[in-house]
Amino acid sequence: MTTGRRQPRELLALYLPLCFALIALSRTARLTEYGIGSSAGGGDAPPPSTNDDATDRRGAAPWRSSRSAVLAMATNMYQGEYQIFVGSLRATGYSGHIVLGINDDAGEDVVDYLSSQNVTIKPIVRGDPGSYHEYKTSHARFFLYRDWIENCTSCTDGIMLTDFRDAYFQADPFATAVKLRQQYPIMVFEELVDGVHDASHWLNNDPVPICRGYTFEPHQPMLCSGSTMGSREGILEYLRAMTTEIKHWKNTKKCNFNMVGDDQSIHNYLYYTNQLNYTTEKGTVVNAKAIPHRTGPIHVVGVQASRIYKNVSETIGCKPWPVPCPERVNYYVKDDVWQRWIPERPGFGAPKDTTSLLDPETGMILNLDGTPSAQVHQVDRFGDLSQRWLEMMREKGWPYNKATWP
Ligand SMILES: *[C@@H]1O[C@H](CO)[C@@H](O)[C@H](O)[C@H]1NC(C)=O
Ligand SMILES: *[C@@H]1O[C@H](CO)[C@@H](O)[C@H](O)[C@H]1NC(C)=O
Ligand SMILES: *[C@@H]1O[C@H](CO)[C@@H](O)[C@H](O)[C@H]1NC(C)=O
Ligand SMILES: *[C@@H]1O[C@H](CO)[C@@H](O)[C@H](O)[C@H]1NC(C)=O
Repeated sequence: MTTGRRQPRELLALYLPLCFALIALSRTARLTEYGIGSSAGGGDAPPPSTNDDATDRRGAAPWRSSRSAVLAMATNMYQGEYQIFVGSLRATGYSGHIVLGINDDAGEDVVDYLSSQNVTIKPIVRGDPGSYHEYKTSHARFFLYRDWIENCTSCTDGIMLTDFRDAYFQADPFATAVKLRQQYPIMVFEELVDGVHDASHWLNNDPVPICRGYTFEPHQPMLCSGSTMGSREGILEYLRAMTTEIKHWKNTKKCNFNMVGDDQSIHNYLYYTNQLNYTTEKGTVVNAKAIPHRTGPIHVVGVQASRIYKNVSETIGCKPWPVPCPERVNYYVKDDVWQRWIPERPGFGAPKDTTSLLDPETGMILNLDGTPSAQVHQVDRFGDLSQRWLEMMREKGWPYNKATWP
């Protein structure tokens, strides 16, 4: 990490997501060398809470999807990427708002497609994210989300803020949250916890101790800043906390990091220093609720996916991404049974997991309880293993999303 000069913003926006994926893959690769499955660090996932009055919203009216909203920054995307995200979400039967920031000069095909899907388009001028141009795009999005929510008077129920390029849906996330009794004002999502990957990762512990003098510890689960859910009021509070902290980082020299992903550092810092909370009308302070990995409406698969991808690459002797390797593409898809795009065996890439990541009948990614994860996030970490599956979903219009699950 350096604190040097910024590159031109536009170049950065194009280059960094790619770079981040590369860094994430290589860092994960390095971490796995320290021993997947070793319990050093003792980072057991906390059990899903059963009776947690402080963060419970029992009694609140269930979120209605038609009054809910999914928000994402979706600049510099291809038509196919819009179809995966929006197409999979609408195929779940989700009828609510989808609000996307897209390039103001996006092609007519993109605009026509998004309009046909009732997407609210927020044009972003290329290389100049409007009033927030002094922030990098990954930071500016939190200010924009706030404005978009405040401007949407019918977005009254659940809100999801999510990364776009590496996510798709298998069920309505708001209906899923209600069904799972996870309707909290602010919900943050844990990544895989197994004593190897945790919040003391360089992504947090490079910048936060320097900027804020706070050091993360190995027992704290890493929280993903690319996927957050909650109520309208809770998410506006979350965004107030995030934008206040982002402003501080921008205005403080030692907090100006030329790195990607320091929004995740900020998100983790605020959560672990108890700065993410919502005060109810009755004056009760409700802290943000961390949803354990693989148990909620958002499933961040990145760590496990990179391990599976790395395992395949090493097994067949391919060089790491982005070196092309035709033998790796759809490696597990045999006789064009595209539903079986990763092995069914439990614990592959996540040795403590006792249930399979995949439903081999449908190809859906599963939560620990065996139900399809409503949103699958960081799916790009599977690299080209998922290519055939995604092609078939686009061609068939996400047929399994229409199923109703017990
Ligand atoms: C878009 O909205 C119209 C009017 O509310 C509705 O009839 C149509 O089914 C919606 N289309 C999609 C893809 O949600
Ligand atoms: C707010 O919404 C109105 C119409 O609903 C729209 O014309 C305006 O551009 C929106 N402003 C922002 C900042 O999104
Ligand atoms: C709620 O968050 C604020 C900062 O956003 C913090 O100052 C306050 O201590 C928090 N309250 C609790 C009860 O954690
Ligand atoms: C890949 O994973 C399997 C099952 O966990 C394991 O037996 C094998 O040794 C791994 N191969 C490599 C190259 O990591």
